[in-house]
Amino acid sequence: MNDNKLPIHVGIIMDGNGRWAKKRGLSRSIGHKMGAKNLKKLLKHIYKRNIKIVSIYAFSIENFKRDKKEVEYLMDLSIKFFTNELKTFMKEKIKVLFSGRKDNLRVDVINAMNELEENTKNNTKGILNICFNYSGQKEIVDAIKKIAMKINNNEITIDDINEDLVSENMYQVLPPLDFVIRTSGELRTSNFMIWESSYAEYYFPNTLFPDFNEKEFDIAIEEFQKRNRRFGGIINENENN
Ligand code: FPP
Repeated sequence: MNDNKLPIHVGIIMDGNGRWAKKRGLSRSIGHKMGAKNLKKLLKHIYKRNIKIVSIYAFSIENFKRDKKEVEYLMDLSIKFFTNELKTFMKEKIKVLFSGRKDNLRVDVINAMNELEENTKNNTKGILNICFNYSGQKEIVDAIKKIAMKINNNEITIDDINEDLVSENMYQVLPPLDFVIRTSGELRTSNFMIWESSYAEYYFPNTLFPDFNEKEFDIAIEEFQKRNRRFGGIINENENN
């Protein structure tokens, strides 16, 4: 395995659980359950590969438009994941953060989120940012409100507003996304960390998320390593691309 040019921050849009289940004549819930099972294995592998920060799209605000039974199942599954995985995150020294709005969520879900965040807050080997009840546009709206409040309180002036200030007022202060993977062949970003991914490389494998295993992840990383990131600058003639 080549560890040259590894991304620091990887985002994963875990899509295709429903289709994975449908193909097998199973309920969508089983698809989500298998997605969660895959996520556990995948995270272990990703941190072992020395990638420090992972952001996952676990539940969007828009997902509340789904059938009530599916939403409730996803909430129950999330509580189980947040509770049962604590020991793994402690062992692997992973700090867990949540991005998204806390309003609108069940109290037992909020409690499980707070507990996981609190218990892992001193871990230093890696970061897992879980986008939950999340919308990229609403994150920007919330940052604008925070900034407006600071102006209102005379803490800053309009002239202080720049890209760095906006970044500092997002849900988390993390390095920008280098690489975003969306499984299942859908070619959309669906409101996932739109501010943080301004110069991210994208990768859209056809594989449905429950089947997106360690080997598929390594193939994705190989693809990332082949990309020539220019950040709007000139082509580096010495690089093979
Ligand atoms: C999108 O697939 C997936 C979701 C909306 C949920 C993702 C959740 C998990 C992978 C389980 C792990 C959960 C946590 C909280 C860590 P889809 O249902 O839209 O699939 P489809 O497009 O095939 O219908």
